[in-house]
This record gives sequence, structure tokens and C-alpha cells, in this order.
Amino acid sequence: MKIEKKVACITGGGRGIGRAISLRLAAAGMEVAVTDVSLENANKVVSEILDAGGKAKGYQADVLNSAEVKAVTAQVLQDFGQIDVLVNNAGGSAGLLNKLSNFKDTTEEIWSWVLDLNINGTLRFTHAVLNQMVARNTGKIINIASIAAEVGIVNRVDYSAAKGAVVSMSKALAMEVGPHGITVNCISPGLISRTEDISPHPGTCLGRNGAPAEVASLVAFLASSEADFITGVNYTIDGGRTLGPKGA
Ligand SMILES: NC(=O)c1ccc[n+]([C@@H]2O[C@H](COP(=O)([O-])OP(=O)(O)OC[C@H]3O[C@@H](n4cnc5c(N)ncnc54)[C@H](O)[C@@H]3O)[C@@H](O)[C@H]2O)c1
Repeated sequence: MKIEKKVACITGGGRGIGRAISLRLAAAGMEVAVTDVSLENANKVVSEILDAGGKAKGYQADVLNSAEVKAVTAQVLQDFGQIDVLVNNAGGSAGLLNKLSNFKDTTEEIWSWVLDLNINGTLRFTHAVLNQMVARNTGKIINIASIAAEVGIVNRVDYSAAKGAVVSMSKALAMEVGPHGITVNCISPGLISRTEDISPHPGTCLGRNGAPAEVASLVAFLASSEADFITGVNYTIDGGRTLGPKGA
């Protein structure tokens, strides 16, 4: 039996959810380009994949830097020959700068950074990869948003706006590229641990937060041929948090 080669490119793959996605897609038999602003962390994940018998290579790619995104994408295509799956995972709030605050206390510099990271970061990588997918009439793009897009999160007005944009851009792009056999879907996690340790979270129906591997399982499904007829959908994965209080 001939197993078809599939190549996945992950942004922010060096840690947390992106690391779990990289490991999961490699375990599913895909060749994985692990990109991250930290080459050191990307390479650590690559080592984990290679140790498990998979195929992967690490790249330094800051999604805030257009030239770097274009250069890395070209290098991945040269190294692997194709990109079948793009996971736009790199992102985050002003918490990454230790600058979370009420919107009244923030600055344009901070919110512009958050919008650039989440919105333009996703647009940049998608744009750099898309024409190759269109030319081959195949591809799956999976964008990591957040439940902030759906219900908002205090002290993260900019992040909520940015993740809302990630959800809506996924739907619009799905319409454009569907005729080329490309699907575009979105995943909106609730609170996910940085590690695989799960902590109690009373705000959810399940009473706990999620693990990166649980988000990675959903990515693996959407990246597989099992999900060929699914496009333009935003999947919430939050243990029931956005259902709100459990009633009287
Ligand atoms: N953890 C959660 O609770 C949660 C909830 C909802 C959504 N998300 C989203 O999931 C994604 C991953 O979150 P996480 O919790 O694993 O984050 P994390 O901060 O643990 O890891 C993010 C990774 O992205 C990399 N990164 C940061 N800035 C980058 C840049 N400019 N270019 C390239 N790489 C960059 C980091 O080096 C790191 O490896 C983000 O988009 C985040 O907004 C996370």
C-alpha cells in the first residue's frame, strides 16, 4: 500500500498547543515543518518528533515579520516539496508582554501589537502558503482563534477583537478557495494548560481546563481526509465554558 505524503506547517510550534499539534500530526504520519519565533524551542519539538520516528524540521519564523514568513515558507517548500496543511497557531494576548489591562488603560501601541500578531500573523502565513495550495488544488488551513471571539474576555478587548477577525477571515477564505479543493476551518479553545497538566476550572461544565493534546486531536481530525467535506466552521473546544452558568 502506498501511503500518500502529507506535509504540515505549524506556526508557534515550539511550545504549548503548537507543540502538541506538531507532535500529533507527526504521529499521524505527516512530515512537519515546526516554525516558531524561537528556533531553539522549534528544534526541541523536532527532536521529540525524530526520537519518535517521525519526520520534521525546525524553522525560525516570526509571524510579525512579512519577509521572514515569505522566506521561511519558500524554504519549507524547497525542503519538503509541498505544504498540505497549514496550522496558524502563533498568537496570544498582551499577556505575552505582561501588559494585560482594561481597555481604558491600554495604549494603541499595545493593541496594534496584539492585532498584528493574531490577525496579520495569520494572514501573512496564509498568503505565503496559499498559491501553492491553489496550484495543487488541495490544502487544509486550520486557524487557532479563541472563545474570546465568541464571548469576549475582560482585560483582552484587543485579543477578543483579533480572534473575532480570525474566525471571520476563515469563513470568507473558505468561500474563496473551496473551488480549489482547499478547506479553511477554525478552532476556538477555552482555557488550555501550557503543559499537559489539567487543573480544575469551575467555570466549565467539565470542571477543568483543557490539555494541549485535546486541541491537537481536533486539529488532527480537521487535517485528515475524514474532514474533507468540512469548511468554514469554527469549532469551540472549551469544556462547556461558553454555555455559561448552569442555571438556577
Ligand atoms: N492556552 C490557552 O488557554 C488558549 C486559549 C485560547 C486560544 N489560544 C490560542 O492558541 C494559540 C497557542 O496558544 P498557547 O497557549 O499554546 O501559547 P504559548 O504562548 O504557550 O505558545 C505560543 C508559541 O508561539 C510562539 N510565538 C509567539 N509569538 C510568535 C511570533 N510572533 N511568531 C511566531 N511564533 C510566535 C511562542 O514562541 C510559543 O512557542 C494562540 O493563538 C492562542 O491565542 C490559547
